[in-house]
Amino acid sequence: MSFPVHRMRRLRANPQLRALVRENALSVDDFIVPLFAIHGSGIKEEMESLPNNYRCSIDMLVDEAKILFDKGIRAVLIFGIPARKDEKATEAYAEDGIVSQAIRALKKSIPELIVIVDDCLCAYTPHGHCGIMENGYLVNDASKEIIAKAALTYAQAGADMIAPPAMLDGQVAAIRSILDENRFVNTSIMAYSAKYASALYDPFFKQGSQSTVAFGDKRTHQMDYANSDEALREMALDIEEGADIVMVKPGLFYLDIVYRCKTEFKFPLAVYNVSGEYAMFHAAAKSGVINKDALLMEMLMCFKRAGADMIITYCAHDAIRLLKQQGV
Ligand code: PBG
Ligand code: ZN
Repeated sequence: MSFPVHRMRRLRANPQLRALVRENALSVDDFIVPLFAIHGSGIKEEMESLPNNYRCSIDMLVDEAKILFDKGIRAVLIFGIPARKDEKATEAYAEDGIVSQAIRALKKSIPELIVIVDDCLCAYTPHGHCGIMENGYLVNDASKEIIAKAALTYAQAGADMIAPPAMLDGQVAAIRSILDENRFVNTSIMAYSAKYASALYDPFFKQGSQSTVAFGDKRTHQMDYANSDEALREMALDIEEGADIVMVKPGLFYLDIVYRCKTEFKFPLAVYNVSGEYAMFHAAAKSGVINKDALLMEMLMCFKRAGADMIITYCAHDAIRLLKQQGV
């Protein structure tokens, strides 16, 4: 296996050869696009901290989803911005809550679109924590029951998939059992299994869900970024509890976790290319010192190479344009 018998450059000599031996591919099938629903009508306002991404009233949300669907996007992840917030996160599971309205409208206009719902309570509580708080501590079991109740509401509205991000113990099992008890046996669960407590969610809080925590942080439930064996334990539990798809979040700083999880479980694996990664990408592109399009494709491909099957990303429009240019 040595030079000069072997010359690695032989198969890099031209684009045709490089395409022939390429190990991974990106396609529009890999993308899941986050959409943000807000009450009202005719609203489509750009989120300053997430350029090219919008807070939309239901009518405009459906329009945006149609545009995405026409470009080949088959899955969206819905976030809601409620009209009211309270300690019990009432609007999260209200039948006429913003997310349930969005699900119904999307499934009515674009039945083939896979509607995934972010099932957390932090956008619905005044303090911005992911559930019920007692003495500054997020109560596990009572909170997971509300999250499960919300999951049932979303399934009833027509959601295809429930994605619980709170990192509460037993939340996947609670969701699976309430869905099954109510005969939603085919509603699937995408578990945010290895979700780290990260500074990379800041742009999302600032503009996206408007759910900045009023006190404390989320480190009693989200993972410590010094750990990786723990990610495998989290994921193993979610798989046991009934997750159909598992996730690593954030993405870029956590590619080792993506790789280890894929290697260990060989389970459908999603990665969340989060708001802070998008903000860094955008800032770099805007500075003019780096080629934006080249950077984007390299960023998205690294997730595939690490082992992700699907990528939740705020860059879908640009990525699709570039894939088209490449003839994919
Ligand atoms: C929870 C949720 C968060 C994100 C997605 N779902 C924030 C958090 O849990 O702290 C972050 C997404 C991003 O930063 O792009 N509802
Ligand atoms: Zn939350």
